[in-house]
Amino acid sequence: MTILEQLEAAYEVGLAGLESAETTEQTTEWYRETLGKKGSVQLMSRQFGKLSNEDKPLFGKRLNEIKNELEEKLQLRQAALKRAEIDAKIASDAIDVTLPGRPQPVGRLHPSTTVLRDVLRIFGDMGFQVFRSEDVVTDQLNFEELNMPPEHPARDMQDTFYTEDEGVLLRTHTSGGQMLAMRKFNPEPIRVVLPGMCYRNEQITVRSEIQFHQVEGLVIGEAISLADLKGTLTEFAKRLFGRSVNTRFRASYFPFTEPSAEMDVYLGTETERDRRITKGTGWLEILGCGMVHPVVLRNGGYDPEKYTGFAFGMGIERMVMNKYGIPDIRYFWGNDLRFLEQF
Ligand code: DAH
Repeated sequence: MTILEQLEAAYEVGLAGLESAETTEQTTEWYRETLGKKGSVQLMSRQFGKLSNEDKPLFGKRLNEIKNELEEKLQLRQAALKRAEIDAKIASDAIDVTLPGRPQPVGRLHPSTTVLRDVLRIFGDMGFQVFRSEDVVTDQLNFEELNMPPEHPARDMQDTFYTEDEGVLLRTHTSGGQMLAMRKFNPEPIRVVLPGMCYRNEQITVRSEIQFHQVEGLVIGEAISLADLKGTLTEFAKRLFGRSVNTRFRASYFPFTEPSAEMDVYLGTETERDRRITKGTGWLEILGCGMVHPVVLRNGGYDPEKYTGFAFGMGIERMVMNKYGIPDIRYFWGNDLRFLEQF
């Protein structure tokens, strides 16, 4: 092989090597082996002295051509590889818009909140205003002004959480809010519902909890009668349980109403569940009510000679248990997702 032929051979090998380089690192390596100081093409220049005078210019020209061409091809190859590497990175980072989305856990309303809202909406439609009051109240508000002086036996029905402050407690029912509503609206007529959390210092069992929601109602005006009470609450029951529901009022006793009653709705005895929650009678008690006691009216600043009114109070969790067939009240505040996610 002549030296010129050797040069052409080195060129061919260089070309082929460059074409087979698949990464930019491989082209750097290729450069070192081909055009670098000790590279195969570069080393050809050492043959120069062995050439005839005639071949020298030919060889020099060709060598320069080859080096330039290989340099140029290297640039192109490197640019192409760089491009391909960027494209591959983009492709691997890209979002596949055809993939289904990952489900996000969605929060939902607690069943007590749902039923509480249902009840408030029904009374709202019937012209009642929502009146809120605090959970921490005085003994005076929770008991005394509702006609339950300190030794009154009715206090035994509501075991109380007391605070360290004398005469300050967690409300055992929403009834105390009646006094606040009366003081606020006095001497205007009143038609309010008072929702709120109540607390009782009781043994926690399947049927009793230390906290629960109540909705209280209070209506005061100049000619409010027992007929208004019955009409309003019967209509409420029909809107909550369905138009065909049967209701009844039973005489009862509460210190803050006179006369007092409890309202039952008829669920029937057809299903095992209805027999269980109605203790076989078919009737479920849903609320306490009565005509506001004259002492209570007077404590609120309304003259019982001129004004009359009715009040009622209901426990929300009992309604939820009945509506959804929940057998144990302890699920409500247990925060167990397996329970909560069912609603
Ligand atoms: N406060 C009573 C309770 O917690 C419920 C109640 C009964 C409220 C009669 C009333 C009422 O306003 O008139 O058991």
